[in-house]
Amino acid sequence: MVSGVEPRWNPDEYSRTARFVSDLGADALALLAPAAGERILDLGCGDGVLSAKIDDLGAEVVAVDSSPEQVAAAHALGLDARVADAAKLRFDAEFDAVFSNATLHWVRDADAVIGGIRRALRPGGRFVAEFGGKGNIDVIRSALVAALDRRGVDGRAVDPWHFPDVADYTRRLETAGFSVKSAELFDRPTPLAGDIRDWLALFAQPFLAAVAEADRAAILDEVRDAVRPTLQRADGSWTADYVRLRIKALKDA
Ligand code: BEZ
Repeated sequence: MVSGVEPRWNPDEYSRTARFVSDLGADALALLAPAAGERILDLGCGDGVLSAKIDDLGAEVVAVDSSPEQVAAAHALGLDARVADAAKLRFDAEFDAVFSNATLHWVRDADAVIGGIRRALRPGGRFVAEFGGKGNIDVIRSALVAALDRRGVDGRAVDPWHFPDVADYTRRLETAGFSVKSAELFDRPTPLAGDIRDWLALFAQPFLAAVAEADRAAILDEVRDAVRPTLQRADGSWTADYVRLRIKALKDA
């Protein structure tokens, strides 16, 4: 799904370190407002926890993700789960809605994703998504880039993330043939379940993969030290500097 190194998602590790991803998807799900009988594509379903909630509401869900391991976990929940690349969707006018939580920032070619979503929707169908927006994890991202730059590796070149603002994403959607109904960018400081090292080991895989294995532990320590004054609380807990872009758009007829 990403350009460059494809992260590996171990469902157990994901569940331990990143359960907040689906826990915090409730507002996006409320914006989707799935209705019984609708056919809904969950794009970037991860381990399927949110897809199962949509399914529980009586919708017919197709859950896709680029990670075979996550798709297997979603399948184990009884879902119609399939491996798919978000930038190469092959569905044709078959969904009432496309939903995506915490996925689209992993795809640099936003226009390819939007084009595939548009093709997948029936005329008038809705697209509801929440993902990292402009400024997302700025503190963490800058520390990662700096740690790689110090080793002579171009940190920006391996940075897999695309965090657009409202104007950028709205323009892309409108150009592709959507009418944007709502779009908001907001800070969502996110408490982490454990140490920031665990978050980095899971989510910053493309940065770590760009250096020799022997350097990775030192990079985790350096980044942890750099972000500690901003992201660690007095009680020792960590809060990541998330910024979300939440958007709802309708496919033009
Ligand atoms: C996010 O959900 O915003 C995110 C997660 C991991 C890496 C980058 C962004």
